[in-house]
Amino acid sequence: MTNKITVTNLYKIFGNSPEAAFDLLVRGDGKEAILEATGATVAVQDASFEVAEGEIFVVMGLSGSGKSTLVRLLNGLIPPTSGQIMIDGQDVAQAKGDMLRQIRRNTITMVFQHFALFPHWSVVDNVAYGLKIKGVAPAERREKALAVLDQVGLVAWADSLPGDLSGGMQQRVGLARGLASDPQVLLMDEPFGALDPLIRREMQDELLELQKKLKKTIVFITHDLNEALLLGDKIAIMKDGRFVQVGTAQDIVSNPADDYVRAFVADIDRGRVFTAGDVSNVPVTVQLHTDTAEDALRRMEESQLDALYVLDGDSVSGVVTHRDVSAALRQNGPGNSKLSASMITNFSAVNEGTYLHELFGPASAGLPIAVTDVGNRLLGVVETQAVLAQLDSESTQPPTPHQPATGVPDTDSRVSHTKEVVK
Ligand SMILES: Nc1ncnc2c1ncn2[C@@H]1O[C@H](COP(=O)(O)OP(=O)(O)OP(=O)(O)O)[C@@H](O)[C@H]1O
Ligand SMILES: [Mg+2]
Repeated sequence: MTNKITVTNLYKIFGNSPEAAFDLLVRGDGKEAILEATGATVAVQDASFEVAEGEIFVVMGLSGSGKSTLVRLLNGLIPPTSGQIMIDGQDVAQAKGDMLRQIRRNTITMVFQHFALFPHWSVVDNVAYGLKIKGVAPAERREKALAVLDQVGLVAWADSLPGDLSGGMQQRVGLARGLASDPQVLLMDEPFGALDPLIRREMQDELLELQKKLKKTIVFITHDLNEALLLGDKIAIMKDGRFVQVGTAQDIVSNPADDYVRAFVADIDRGRVFTAGDVSNVPVTVQLHTDTAEDALRRMEESQLDALYVLDGDSVSGVVTHRDVSAALRQNGPGNSKLSASMITNFSAVNEGTYLHELFGPASAGLPIAVTDVGNRLLGVVETQAVLAQLDSESTQPPTPHQPATGVPDTDSRVSHTKEVVK
């Protein structure tokens, strides 16, 4: 794999005398001491990393750790104090004038937390904005903008105003605008930071879905470990301007480099405390013999689900996904698609007492996990995100399901800590 971004020994020091500060830094002084001695702020120190083409590189750290400064350096918005930034073979740090503008227009785009949409422009015009700046003709830019709106599922809103859309949808418009100019590299600085947690999860999933098709090189900034682990092919943990660890989610969770990282991942053990029953939702289902493919699709859409379980009477037969069912309907025409034809029968089923850490495997299939009793009756479903959300170190409360599972005695899930993966 080729590297799209290569950063070598990058430093950024804000203040009047970065040279003096740099000398102190090399001598081994800390950020605080340097600020006191020189009035200069060390924002990024000695960062070196590579991002392969098509990879999501997540930078995670507390407020003030230097994440946004790093992004601004990558984008050429501010010059480094020292170090090299190569993007697509071009040295951003050395680029000036037209060259820099060219990189920023054609190679890189930014997606921010505050989507900064023009309120009086239609959605499609907002998306086409970058193309307009590039001088693309009106008809062509509308066509391109509509194509990316289609990719993010918003083509029906093309002529609406941003204010008519929910926060999550507006963020999708922001993303579409970033994608419209077909950049090589997307820089995303806490893009989902302002969204409420459920919408945020949806956006994370959508970004991953989209990325399967787009294969952009993405630098994604967050201070949420859950988000970092979910999205990152590689994750850098930043502290006081330094990268304290760079690795995959597995590397970081299983081998935290120091106490700082360990503190972030400490709560991972909650996966050994809570169970499937704790996070399961009331299942939305269809009947194998009496419901049609259209029924299944409608029910998924009503409940905003990507998949739902198919029952034969009381017992579970399989699971269907929105994607498969709609593809079958498209192919065979309305009324000609049997539910069973799209049904996945090798789904994961667990019991209520199964610990969450044992659900990571089943969750990797990307399908909701069935929570069944000994009679193969469906008690609830666990969405993949609910499993991954357990990696969130910020929440200290036991996880709460979206809706309480009906017909399930409250006490059951926590007393019977049996672990058993049925299928
Ligand atoms: N233009 C500037 N002038 C002086 N200091 C700055 C400037 N921009 C950032 N800093 C300082 O650099 C350090 C890193 O800031 P930065 O904004 O990169 O952090 P961050 O990780 O993005 O934080 P947050 O999570 O709050 O967005 C901080 O100490 C900050 O005060
Ligand atoms: Mg920031």
